[in-house]
Amino acid sequence: MPLIALLPGDGIGPEVVAEARRVLDALDLGLTFEEAPVGGAAYETLGHPLPISTLDLAEQADAILFGAVGDARFDGVERSLRPEQAVLGLRKELNLFANLRPAKLFPGLEDASALRPEVAGAIDLVIVRELTGDVYFGEKGRRETIEGLREGYDLMAYDEIEVRRIARVGFETARGRTGKLCSVDKANVLETSQLWRDVVIETAADYPDVALTHMYVDNAAMQLVRNPGQFDTIVTGNLFGDILSDQASMCAGSIGMLPSASLGEAIGGRVKGLYEPIHGSAPDIAGQGKANPCATILSAAMMLRHSLDRADMADRIEAAVTAALVGGARTADLGGALSTSQMGDAVLARL
Ligand code: NAD
Ligand code: IPM
Ligand code: MN
Repeated sequence: MPLIALLPGDGIGPEVVAEARRVLDALDLGLTFEEAPVGGAAYETLGHPLPISTLDLAEQADAILFGAVGDARFDGVERSLRPEQAVLGLRKELNLFANLRPAKLFPGLEDASALRPEVAGAIDLVIVRELTGDVYFGEKGRRETIEGLREGYDLMAYDEIEVRRIARVGFETARGRTGKLCSVDKANVLETSQLWRDVVIETAADYPDVALTHMYVDNAAMQLVRNPGQFDTIVTGNLFGDILSDQASMCAGSIGMLPSASLGEAIGGRVKGLYEPIHGSAPDIAGQGKANPCATILSAAMMLRHSLDRADMADRIEAAVTAALVGGARTADLGGALSTSQMGDAVLARL
């Protein structure tokens, strides 16, 4: 029986994970769930955002379903103990270097998108974001300049192995879709990005069937709003992918709609993965039953597809979410009035 680690976390994390759990339970797949504290919730009770017991469970599990972490109450805590370190630690410890963030406009959500309906309707892309390197994990700290000023620094760096393995995921993803890969960087300014571009071009030799293009990240941010339909697969670094995926979510209707899969290397045919919505703990709406659970429900579908070899059930969940939206089910972020659990009900009713 596959073991799923449930890590609900902070803010709306527990609210949205509960709905995904209800959907998984309804499918009766014989999954075993074990829950563990993570983020601010774990810091408060156990003194660490990623307790050893939680990391152990994540290591043993076949897959991890994660909610969100973070709360301004912990902004003053030393960085290594802040809630966000939990998700960064899990990604690094489990070597989950490939983050897939699909963004597509579900039928009927044209009115929820920040874009004009005819522009929004064309969005169907996946951002392949590198997740264990870049400025996130380089040397960082504070120091004093020779003038005696306080200075903060974070080193941006990628080595060629890191770039090649994420480039491969980008090419493979594009190959499984429409065969178009756009690599997003800032090679006109950053040496890290020039290496990125060089290695992506070298890797392209193994994928002659994929059409590779390059785009600077500032232009990519603009093009995502101007004409998102031009993109199929985007491969990019950790920081650029973080920013572009939140932006893409609003093109597709709401940040409450975008799921993600964070994957490592395939071991024995199956890929260990962490599945989570791209959004955070949303402290402004936490505890009010307002959060849209679709991103987490769709993350559970990605979990079934990528880690549990149940693409059939993933399709079923995605079809149920689509049918619920087509039927007019809307949480507040989509311009409706359904609560988190009512949105869950609407999906369950269409399973
Ligand atoms: P956020 O994604 O939590 O919220 C941004 C805005 O989107 C808020 O107005 C929020 O109400 C709304 N929103 C987010 N998810 C929603 C949903 N499912 N339904 C409806 N509305 C939704 O980003 P933030 O406010 O910048 O960050 C809040 C905290 O979350 C911070 O501590 C941050 O570090 C953390 N964070 C964690 C993760 C993660 O755990 N992977 C991701 C992003 C942010
Ligand atoms: C995300 C979040 C995280 C990131 C934070 C919470 C560390 O924004 O998952 O998109 O920057 O990767
Ligand atoms: Mn983010």
